Amino acid sequence: MAAFQLFFPLLISCVAASAHPPRHLPPCQVVQMDVLCSDLSLRSAPGNLPHGVQMLDLSRNQVQNLTQETLAYHTGFHHLNLQANKIHFIQPGLFKNMTDLKVLDLSRNHLNVFALSKINIGPLTVVESLDLSNNGLYTGMSDYFLAESPALANLSLNSNSITKIAQNTFDGSLNLTKISLHNNVIMEIEDGAFDSLKHLIELDLSKNSITCITDFNLYNLAVLNLSKNSMELFLSAKTNHLYKLSPS
Ligand SMILES: *[C@@H]1O[C@H](CO)[C@@H](O)[C@H](O)[C@H]1NC(C)=O
Ligand SMILES: *[C@@H]1O[C@H](CO)[C@@H](O)[C@H](O)[C@H]1NC(C)=O
Ligand SMILES: *[C@@H]1O[C@H](CO)[C@@H](O)[C@H](O)[C@H]1NC(C)=O
Ligand SMILES: *[C@@H]1O[C@H](CO)[C@@H](O)[C@H](O)[C@H]1NC(C)=O
Ligand SMILES: *[C@@H]1O[C@H](CO)[C@@H](O)[C@H](O)[C@H]1NC(C)=O
Repeated sequence: MAAFQLFFPLLISCVAASAHPPRHLPPCQVVQMDVLCSDLSLRSAPGNLPHGVQMLDLSRNQVQNLTQETLAYHTGFHHLNLQANKIHFIQPGLFKNMTDLKVLDLSRNHLNVFALSKINIGPLTVVESLDLSNNGLYTGMSDYFLAESPALANLSLNSNSITKIAQNTFDGSLNLTKISLHNNVIMEIEDGAFDSLKHLIELDLSKNSITCITDFNLYNLAVLNLSKNSMELFLSAKTNHLYKLSPS
């Protein structure tokens, strides 16, 4: 009987808790049009985001499935920071309507799981800076994120598991000026992989497994980082072009 008496109030309090989920808002900070919700164990953005929010920092939370609902149906973001969540699915076309979204940080998630589903995230209409670092991505997986990113200038694929840069890797992102591939396991770069990137000025290939580069022909490149590879041979293409590479 004593056991029953103990159990009964406990049950009541459980029922009460599920009938009235905590209504208090997570303590996001709002600074002008920026909403800062870092490190609050959130699975989605709070439902009452201020109208006109431009920057949303949802970094270091528990987002798994990135959908319109996760972002409280807002599309006016200029900057979305989703770093260090557990994102393994992105609603296809989610960013299509975000016609102001310039900076998108998806680093430190599980986007390799999403890529295995072979679904394209859809257009990154005006995104200029995209961070896909630390996502367990391997060769070919970046295709599902880059296929329609015409405005992309700055891309980080640092600290993934890419072994080969295929010739068509950047076909959907012809405006790239800076690519970082630091800390992958790149052994092969297919002929012409960077040739169509007319604005490319900075390429970081440091900490990979590159042994030789032949026919180097990236005339506009100003910075090329090949440190921490196993370089044995570097040959540039025979040409009358001038290179812009500065010694470093
Ligand atoms: C993600 O959420 C959407 C909508 O809530 C749902 O339809 C879909 O099944 C979810 N996907 C995964 C992989 O959890
Ligand atoms: C994009 O906008 C259209 C028209 O307003 C709407 O029907 C659609 O649901 C939106 N899609 C997403 C993914 O936001
Ligand atoms: C490019 O993106 C990286 C992170 O993804 C950032 O640290 C860097 O400041 C950006 N550079 C430019 C020129 O926008
Ligand atoms: C490509 O970048 C240039 C500036 O470098 C910009 O003027 C142009 O609008 C960009 N193209 C697209 C499609 O966003
Ligand atoms: C090249 O990459 C290495 C290793 O990441 C880094 O320490 C170095 O600062 C980089 N050099 C330049 C010139 O950016």
